[in-house]
Amino acid sequence: MSLSIRFYGDQILREKAQPVENIDGKIVKLLSDMRETMHAASGVGLAGNQIGVPLQLIAVINPETGEDLLLINPRIQSLGEEKEVEEEGCLSFPQIFSKVERPRKATVEAFTPSGKEIVIEAEGFLARILQHEIDHLQGILFIDRLSPRRRLLVAGKLRKINSYGREDANR
Ligand code: NI
Repeated sequence: MSLSIRFYGDQILREKAQPVENIDGKIVKLLSDMRETMHAASGVGLAGNQIGVPLQLIAVINPETGEDLLLINPRIQSLGEEKEVEEEGCLSFPQIFSKVERPRKATVEAFTPSGKEIVIEAEGFLARILQHEIDHLQGILFIDRLSPRRRLLVAGKLRKINSYGREDANR
């Protein structure tokens, strides 16, 4: 089932997601719906808050293998020192893309839907997607990580999403 995505301006995007205590059928179904929602919206990642569920759940696509990763309670174990600046977007920010500086490598630990604990040593685009989604779980959005100059460049578009989000909520 494809779920509706919350847009910038929705307070849930600023909430901290809670850890999942029990991986039950509901969580597995939610992750499967998140995967479907991400694909339907042509995204590469989606966090629980974005579909109105403040739980530590993310769905991401591994751009190297094309495989979907459904992760529970993901946590950054370590970040590399080297930084990289690349263009980023977000399903909660339609039409907004901007360059964001992030560490090029990230080691992430998480649980899979079958309850297995895994460690992902990611670099490049996958490391970026994982950092972006784990930020969502902390209530942090990619626009928070823009340089002041780039932030100014997207300010006008941000105001438009704000009103778009409100219209959407009133439907
Ligand atoms: Ni996002």
